[in-house]
Amino acid sequence: MKKNKLNIALIGLGNIGSYLYKYLQENKKILSKKNNCIPEIIYVSAKNKNKKRNIKINKNKWLKNYLDSTILKNVDVIVELIGGAEGAAKKLVFNALKNKKHVVTANKALIAKYGDQLSKIAEKNKVNLEFEAAVCGGVPIIRSLKEGLIANKISRVYGIFNGTSNYILSNMDKDRKSFNDVLFDAKRKGYAESNPISDLNGDDVASKLKILSSLCFNSFINHKIHVEGINSIDSFDIDNANKLGYKIKLLGVAEIINNKVYQRVHPTLIKQSSYIASIDGVLNAVIVDGKPVGENVIQGEGAGPEATTSALVSDISSILRGNVKFPFSISSKERKSLNYSNIAERTFSAYLRFEVFDRPGVLSKITNIFSKNKVSIKRLIQNPNKSKKFSSIVIITHNSKDKSLVKIIKQIEKKPYITKKPKLIRIGTN
Ligand SMILES: NC(=O)c1ccc[n+]([C@@H]2O[C@H](COP(=O)([O-])OP(=O)(O)OC[C@H]3O[C@@H](n4cnc5c(N)ncnc54)[C@H](OP(=O)(O)O)[C@@H]3O)[C@@H](O)[C@H]2O)c1
Repeated sequence: MKKNKLNIALIGLGNIGSYLYKYLQENKKILSKKNNCIPEIIYVSAKNKNKKRNIKINKNKWLKNYLDSTILKNVDVIVELIGGAEGAAKKLVFNALKNKKHVVTANKALIAKYGDQLSKIAEKNKVNLEFEAAVCGGVPIIRSLKEGLIANKISRVYGIFNGTSNYILSNMDKDRKSFNDVLFDAKRKGYAESNPISDLNGDDVASKLKILSSLCFNSFINHKIHVEGINSIDSFDIDNANKLGYKIKLLGVAEIINNKVYQRVHPTLIKQSSYIASIDGVLNAVIVDGKPVGENVIQGEGAGPEATTSALVSDISSILRGNVKFPFSISSKERKSLNYSNIAERTFSAYLRFEVFDRPGVLSKITNIFSKNKVSIKRLIQNPNKSKKFSSIVIITHNSKDKSLVKIIKQIEKKPYITKKPKLIRIGTN
């Protein structure tokens, strides 16, 4: 029989946990009415009980040990807001599901790494494992895929899944500032963590893409993924992109082409007129191509306590309503191991940039290497440096195999006329 009250243990009271605690205290009545069940936080835990927090918590709610939440009989739901794929968060979520507790988590690293194992335990024990907040914060993409878009066969999911890198790229463009200046500014405003490595090197987007890809294609999580971050993008690339009618965005893309799945995260040149080019600042956007629905877009705040709490409350409400579903939309027995392909075999039009000594014959040497690799040039721009000693050559190619583009970069980067590591930025979303 459905209970009219569910007891929650909230583990982790940092940025997100403390905001969620306050939200649930203030909105218990309305949530109870909407879900016909009361969400009651009966226990909390964090690493340091004596830390000063901006919320008031009754002393008797503190657990002696956070893992007690997984064995106490009166706990129905555990909300994990510790973070990280290993350590305390991993122990908590595995133990909780094994002990038949529902779990809500915002932890993309944990789900991307252990989601398959965790979902099997949840299914066996008929409890929820919910992770809406793990992918793009306030953008309700997981629930949309599992419910609103359930009718669809999905061929592609892509978008902007990291607010920090999008803030940096769009502000380098808007304010004509360097990567480091904008990163400094983002840290000051709280849009970038003090250690933003996984935001900048593409790993954060990769974790989210793996989760989305397995949900969209009814497959197990696959770790075959091409990942590049935005660390090497500089103001010259941003200016060149503008001159050519593009914006640079860090995209995550998972797609099925000729029955093969490609998963990739990399900076991409996007036509200025396209929808995705207009997503600026800390916003996230997810685009799904499905049949029969066509193209579907959801955008919103991708991080921060407010947006993340919106997603967490959606998950908690699903449990309050007694809505036990397969964590990855279909049973683990039905999930497939698909044929994943390396992007070397995929074709792209691309932007290649070479910084060279401005000497006679250099340009023809470079274009010769393109023709030897059977990559045809659509557009070439040469910008001599003011000193006339150096020159910047930008080449836009026609569609070519990725492995040929990479081979060209590798061959040219060794040449004596090259002054800086060459760049390759893929173009478009098709
Ligand atoms: N921040 C965002 O915008 C955002 C957006 C989407 C998803 N998320 C995810 O939400 C989760 C939480 O993020 P956050 O920004 O709130 O992190 P945070 O501010 O670093 O908070 C982490 C919390 O975990 C507690 N903790 C650490 N080790 C513990 C242990 N062994 N036992 C019990 N508690 C422990 C910490 O305790 P103390 O307070 O005592 O140090 C702290 O309260 C992460 O998975 C993150 O990826 C965050």
